Amino acid sequence: MITQESLLAEIARTDTQMMILLESLSDEELVVPCEPGINPPVWEAGHVAFFYEYFLLRHLYGVEPIMPGHDTVWDSFEIPHRERWEPGIVPDKTKTLTYYRQVIKETMDRLSAGNGLSDAELYLGQYVVAHQDMHLESLIWCRQTLGYAAPPWSAMLTGAETRAIVPPLPDADIAGGTYYIGMPKLDDGSKSPYFSFDNERPGFELAIASFSLSRTLVSQGEFLEFVEDLGYERPEFWSAGGRYWLRKVSRSHPAYWAKRDGQWTVRRFNRIEPLTPSAPVIHVSFWEAEAYCRWSGRRLPSEYEWEAAARSAEARKFPWGNSPDSLPADLDAKHLGTAPVTAFPEGATKDGCLQMMGTAWEWTTNQYLPYDGFCVDLYAYMSTLQFGTHKTTRGGSGATSGSLIRNSYRQAYHPDRFDVFTGFRTCKDAP
Ligand SMILES: [Fe+2]
Repeated sequence: MITQESLLAEIARTDTQMMILLESLSDEELVVPCEPGINPPVWEAGHVAFFYEYFLLRHLYGVEPIMPGHDTVWDSFEIPHRERWEPGIVPDKTKTLTYYRQVIKETMDRLSAGNGLSDAELYLGQYVVAHQDMHLESLIWCRQTLGYAAPPWSAMLTGAETRAIVPPLPDADIAGGTYYIGMPKLDDGSKSPYFSFDNERPGFELAIASFSLSRTLVSQGEFLEFVEDLGYERPEFWSAGGRYWLRKVSRSHPAYWAKRDGQWTVRRFNRIEPLTPSAPVIHVSFWEAEAYCRWSGRRLPSEYEWEAAARSAEARKFPWGNSPDSLPADLDAKHLGTAPVTAFPEGATKDGCLQMMGTAWEWTTNQYLPYDGFCVDLYAYMSTLQFGTHKTTRGGSGATSGSLIRNSYRQAYHPDRFDVFTGFRTCKDAP
C-alpha cells in the first residue's frame, strides 16, 4: 500500500535516477540527433516536471504556472516531435533544470506538509511517478540507440559464465481454465489498494485453453540458429507486414548484431561484445519475433495467455507472488538483459516460467486495444493514441522500474520497433 512516506521516497528515487542519467552525459552527448525513437534528454526532464506541475501542483493545489506560456512546449501531444530539438522553442539545459528542480521541490513540500495524504494525492502522486519511471526507461534506450554508456549504476555481466550454452528447458504446461485478466475497476479512481492505468481496467475473467509456454525467453543462441538458417531471406516465415518491414530496414540479423572476423558480436550501449548464446535476444521487432516463431513451428502467446501464465490460478500480482519487496528479476537497469535466460529461478511463476517480469518486454499477438468497459483516465493520451496501431508487450524490461511493473501491466509498442528493449518467448497449443 502506498503511504505518504513511501510516495515521497518514490519521488526522491525517480528524481535521483533521472539526475544521474542526465548528469552522466556530457553536454555534447546531450545534444542528440533528431531520431524517431528518442527525445532530447533535457526536454524529457522538462516534460516530466510538467506532469508533476499539471496534475499535482495545479490540479490539486491550485498553484499558478511556474513557467508561464510553456505548456505547449512540455506537453508531448502539443509539441511536434522535431520541434523538441528547436533551441528557439525549448528552453536550454540551465533553464529547464531550474524549472525541473523548482517543480520537484514544490511537490515534495506540498506532499510532506500534513499528516497523511488524501486518496487523490496518493493516486495522482503514483501517476506522475509512474510517468517519470516510463521516461527513465526511454532515457536508457536512448543511450542504447546512440551507443552511449549504460547507466552508471548498472551491473552488466560480461564474465565467461554468461557465455555458457544453456540447454533448452522443457515447456511449462499452462492448464486451461478461467483466469482473471487486468485490474479491478476503480469506483472513484482512487480506492484500489493497487495503482493501475486505465488500459488495465476493468479486469475480467477469461476462459483460456491449455497450452505450453516456453519457460525462458528466446536466447541469442536460439535466435542465431534462425539467422544462420537464412531465416531473414526466406519469405515463407514472414507475414505481409513483416516482409514490408524487412524491405524497409534491409537486414539479415537483429539490428545490433554484426559479424566481425567470422565471429558474431552484439552492441550493448557503447560496448561490442561476443554474442552470448545463453543471454536473451533483445531489440527485435514484432516481425522478427513472429518470423522466428514460424521458422520454429511455434507461435507467440496472446497477451491473455501471457497474463494467465504469469498470474496462475492464484491471480498473482507478480510471477513469484504478491510481494514486490525483493523483486527477484532483472529490473531497474540492474543487468540490462545480460544474465542467462535461466537466471532468477526465485522469480519463477507457479508453473516454472522464468523472467516473465523484467529482462525484456515480450511481444504478444495482440493489437493494443481497450478492454470492454474502458474508461479514460485523467490524462486522455496515456493509452488512447496507441490503441489499434500498436502491439501489446508485457512484463517489463531490464530498464523498467520495479515499481512500475506488474502482471497486468500493458505496454504498447509499434510492431516495427526494435530500438526498445523487446524480446519474446514462444508457445504452442496443447496436443
Ligand atoms: Fe511522457
